Amino acid sequence: MYKDNPVILQSLQVTKQYPAPGNRTLTACSGISMEVKQGETLGIVGESGCGKSTFARMLVQLEKPTSGKLLYHGEDLSSMKGEALRQNRKNIQMVFQDPLASFHPKMKIIDILTEPMMNFRMVTKAHKEDAAARLLQMVDLPEDFMYRYPHNMSGGQRQRIGIARALSLEPEILVCDEATSALDVSVQKNIIELLVRLQREKNLTIIFICHDLALVQSFAHRVAVMYLGNIVELMPGEAVAADARHPYTQALLRAVFSPDMDFCRAIQSIESEAPSPLEIPEGCPFLNRCERCMEVCKKVKPEVRVVGPFHEAACCLFEEFSEYRAERGKKCS
Ligand SMILES: Nc1ncnc2c1ncn2[C@@H]1O[C@H](COP(=O)(O)OP(=O)(O)O)[C@@H](O)[C@H]1O
Ligand code: SF4
Ligand SMILES: [Mg+2]
Repeated sequence: MYKDNPVILQSLQVTKQYPAPGNRTLTACSGISMEVKQGETLGIVGESGCGKSTFARMLVQLEKPTSGKLLYHGEDLSSMKGEALRQNRKNIQMVFQDPLASFHPKMKIIDILTEPMMNFRMVTKAHKEDAAARLLQMVDLPEDFMYRYPHNMSGGQRQRIGIARALSLEPEILVCDEATSALDVSVQKNIIELLVRLQREKNLTIIFICHDLALVQSFAHRVAVMYLGNIVELMPGEAVAADARHPYTQALLRAVFSPDMDFCRAIQSIESEAPSPLEIPEGCPFLNRCERCMEVCKKVKPEVRVVGPFHEAACCLFEEFSEYRAERGKKCS
């Protein structure tokens, strides 16, 4: 059970900002704090532009946080340099949304799969075929696929290659950034089943980033909901449908489309647009779209608080503001 496992990754107040034209600052991630346990699947969901990929890039050390720390087994990732940094890249690997864009089109699958291992001298030229056959078998593809090019395969097969390549270095953490978002629903299901099997076999920790809350909650142990660079709710996957407490998560659930749904119930989209990360409002980041917004939400940015077993949320509804208590539940003008 992952809950009894040691913490493998900690994010401590991680913020990422980019300089923007007009001397402005774009805040892509804002004070993200959470822990991930070994063998856990953590789903990260949120609308496009909420900072999911930026967080993923910091996890795999393609970018450094502007402030805050990411600890892997207690060691600060951004303080690693030179050979230590290079060696650590093996431990946290990424599967990208578009494998065609991340593979060299003129390389055969055998070379795509074994290139990372060759770089780390984990395989010799003489043993490349054996290594590629083992990796193809791991992701349920025929061995003779090693002589194909990426464009001679279907989207689902290519994504299996992406997973096999990421796992070739035997990482402890796999970061999947929208890895199934471009696939048909049936292929998506097969890839998720593959990830779940590989996690069990290898005690992998998986960070699965996706914009589809319904998909993520179906298999992630825990789900983190992001909004405008902030984690606004963190809860067990199985609790999402019944126990989501944050108004944003509740609004996302009301917007989910499912073939089993009650067709008499309207799908409710979330009104208006998220603010620009260049102009983050004071107070709660969700305030301009929240049905339950109060005066206090305009002044105080709510902190992430424990609201139930293994359940945290950042919302003024769960804070004790004695001066504002009377207005709880009232909509602000
Ligand atoms: N290298 C960059 N320079 C400037 N802005 C960036 C950069 N990378 C991402 N952003 C901005 O950060 C915000 C979050 O982007 P991203 O992490 O890609 O979101 P998501 O993956 O959730 O769609 C967006 O507003 C995006 O335009
Ligand atoms: S803090 Fe206020 S505006 Fe933000 S989600 Fe909670 S109730 Fe809505
Ligand atoms: Mg993204």
